[in-house]
Amino acid sequence: MIHAELLKALHLLTRDGKLNQDARRKLKQVTHFLGFLKPWVEDCRTNEQSIHAVDFGAGKSYLGLILADQLLRNSIRPQLTAVESRPELVEKIRTIAEFIPEVTIHAVADVIKNFSDPHDRPDSQQLLVLALHACDTATDDALIWAIQNRAKHIAVVPCCQAQVARSLKPLGGLKAIIEAPIHQREFGSHLTNVIRALVLRHVGYRVTVTELVGWEHSLKNELILAQYTGKSDLTAMPKIEALRKEFAFDHALIDGLAGWLNRS
Ligand SMILES: C[S@@+](CC[C@H](N)C(=O)[O-])C[C@H]1O[C@@H](n2cnc3c(N)ncnc32)[C@H](O)[C@@H]1O
Repeated sequence: MIHAELLKALHLLTRDGKLNQDARRKLKQVTHFLGFLKPWVEDCRTNEQSIHAVDFGAGKSYLGLILADQLLRNSIRPQLTAVESRPELVEKIRTIAEFIPEVTIHAVADVIKNFSDPHDRPDSQQLLVLALHACDTATDDALIWAIQNRAKHIAVVPCCQAQVARSLKPLGGLKAIIEAPIHQREFGSHLTNVIRALVLRHVGYRVTVTELVGWEHSLKNELILAQYTGKSDLTAMPKIEALRKEFAFDHALIDGLAGWLNRS
């Protein structure tokens, strides 16, 4: 049970303890998300590893703070960092963090691209990178940070995705795929996530792509879960190259990781 004072501070419960429609939807997303993270957090505890969770594009960090309250507080030396570009939201996170003294919580007001973790990471600490509905290429920035910092676990639910849709230039008969603007947007969004999963597989993650909640709760519902194994999927890069040949698109994750992709 998430305690009422935390839910009120997050504005998920009204002052008189009521849950409105929006809050119910948000809570459903977050609790489903935690269901996917729970086995990872428990594994860390079993293996006596500490966890540093990083919530990118955090907003008020509903996800990070409820994760801290529900799962991290009982683990070993737990840490949460929330990275959010809007300073007024970062202030809110700092205030709400006081409800969870068992977890060391940092809230950073910056764009993801500029974020570098100032804290040393001991070998026994596992990084868990999260991004729930981080806008457009902010999800790619979160993935780039996760890959470069060798996050053990990654869980992202992307938001709107415009970059790939805008840049698509399909060849020949494939042009029909994006003739209608809605098809261009949806196909661009689909391709964006296909590439994200392939890049993660290429750089050594085991990847699962699934739904977060029922579609009636959110249209931005695709959950990409990745666990670092160090074993590159050798079929991933040829698949990326084949898709790029057919559709000639830009992708922030590929551009941001240019050096890494060649190395791994
Ligand atoms: C749709 S909201 C989601 C917030 C939160 N994760 C949630 O699910 O409630 C996206 C948030 O990402 C932040 N954001 C967008 N681009 C960002 C970037 N490049 N770096 C950091 N924060 C970013 C926005 O300010 C906004 O608060």
